[in-house]
Amino acid sequence: MTAPAEEGPPARSGDVAPDGGERLQKVLARAGLGSRRACEELIDEGRVRVNGEVATLGRRVDPEHDRVTVDGVTLPVRPGLVYYLLNKPAKVVTTAHDPQGRATVVDLVPDEPRVFPVGRLDWDTEGLLLLTNDGELAHGLTHPSRGVPKTYLAEVAGVPGKAALRRLRDGVDLEDGRTAPARARLTQTTPTGAALEIVIHEGRNRQVRRMCEAVGHPVRRLVRTRFGPLRDHSLAPGEWRPLKSAEIQALYAAVGAQSADTEEENDA
Ligand code: URA
Repeated sequence: MTAPAEEGPPARSGDVAPDGGERLQKVLARAGLGSRRACEELIDEGRVRVNGEVATLGRRVDPEHDRVTVDGVTLPVRPGLVYYLLNKPAKVVTTAHDPQGRATVVDLVPDEPRVFPVGRLDWDTEGLLLLTNDGELAHGLTHPSRGVPKTYLAEVAGVPGKAALRRLRDGVDLEDGRTAPARARLTQTTPTGAALEIVIHEGRNRQVRRMCEAVGHPVRRLVRTRFGPLRDHSLAPGEWRPLKSAEIQALYAAVGAQSADTEEENDA
């Protein structure tokens, strides 16, 4: 993936950290790529690059500044990066500081190191929210051209028929333009309403609520059940947990894969 200019390390090639740095296999193992032996094999197979150059065994790196990729996917090797998955309850604002003094999502996770929410859920929306201090990953995940899929459970008024579902899937005309193709399926009906599973790739303000309203089925309750590769049915509202290494790598891969797709689309 391409790093945003303000976040990426300086473009240096083949240099060694001034203090000698850390052994590459140790840094890879810490990032969750397996045992040091397994990481040596990755290096030996030519799958690991440092600042764009294929690394060889014996390579040392400065995790603060060097960019390490495995199979083209950037690894979070900088020390001090944290990643929390929060099940946001309703009536909490998705911001680091609310001028009106309302409870914020940042109040629900540890104070230090300071983290920020990736993307936004409305005050009354519940569900999975990522908080991190990894600016590069956050940038990739929220960049409009790489929108990762976000899955919502929307409890709506009335039961959407085939035509309404087709409109949700094909694109709904909203005041800020037509929505991109989405997935939408009916999962449950009740005497007065229905539950829909909706998957969108965009991240417009109150998008799912506006889409449902536009097709005549206002949302009564909205819960995000998946964010890219992240899912968790066991977190109670207000609870959080640190991401596992495999989940962090899956997020980096999602951003990398999406950006590759976009480049292919652009080339077509
Ligand atoms: N769409 C909405 O309408 N609200 C959210 O919080 C997220 C997506």
